[in-house]
Amino acid sequence: MPKLPIVVLISGNGSNLQAIIDQCSGHVDIRAVISDNPKAYGLQRALDANIRPVVESQVWGENRHDYCYILADKVSIFKPELVVLAGFMKILTPEFTTVHERTMNIHPSLLPKHKGLHTHRRVLEAGDKEHGMTIHWVTEELDSGPIIWQQSFEVQPDDTEETLEAKVHELEHIWYPRMINEAANGNI
Ligand code: GRF
Repeated sequence: MPKLPIVVLISGNGSNLQAIIDQCSGHVDIRAVISDNPKAYGLQRALDANIRPVVESQVWGENRHDYCYILADKVSIFKPELVVLAGFMKILTPEFTTVHERTMNIHPSLLPKHKGLHTHRRVLEAGDKEHGMTIHWVTEELDSGPIIWQQSFEVQPDDTEETLEAKVHELEHIWYPRMINEAANGNI
């Protein structure tokens, strides 16, 4: 089976990118890693894996629509059949999502709970009994597209933001590569 061409968008550390590099290489061809942050460590991870790192240089100003229009074009250059958001911090508009309809995201909460930022803190503040991660399709509405997979765990009385983050990351690094491989095999 030919490898699925993908482009990964990041903004930071790129631990999920690393998991994808390590666990999906047999199924996908990562044609580029694009970061809106020139200091993102994920760019180094891409370089180390001989993947083309691209720094997105546009300014995220008032016109998000123009930004996303241009970003969609830049992604299209690599002809991906799947776009993977891995800690990409910008909210994509229809100028992107209608061009790249197969765009996946991973979110550190059990959606529809805790859309947006600071999910671990909000779980503790809400006294949630469980927490987890969600892999979903990206639509123009933030963290609201169709859910592909969720994985949860019980919140313990001594959990902190840091321990919750570590537990969520552990699940993410198992399940995001698995779902991307499922997409590459035509199962999603
Ligand atoms: C992950 O927790 C992911 O759920 C969220 O951003 C974080 C990215 O972490 N969207 P990393 O850059 O992959 O380490």
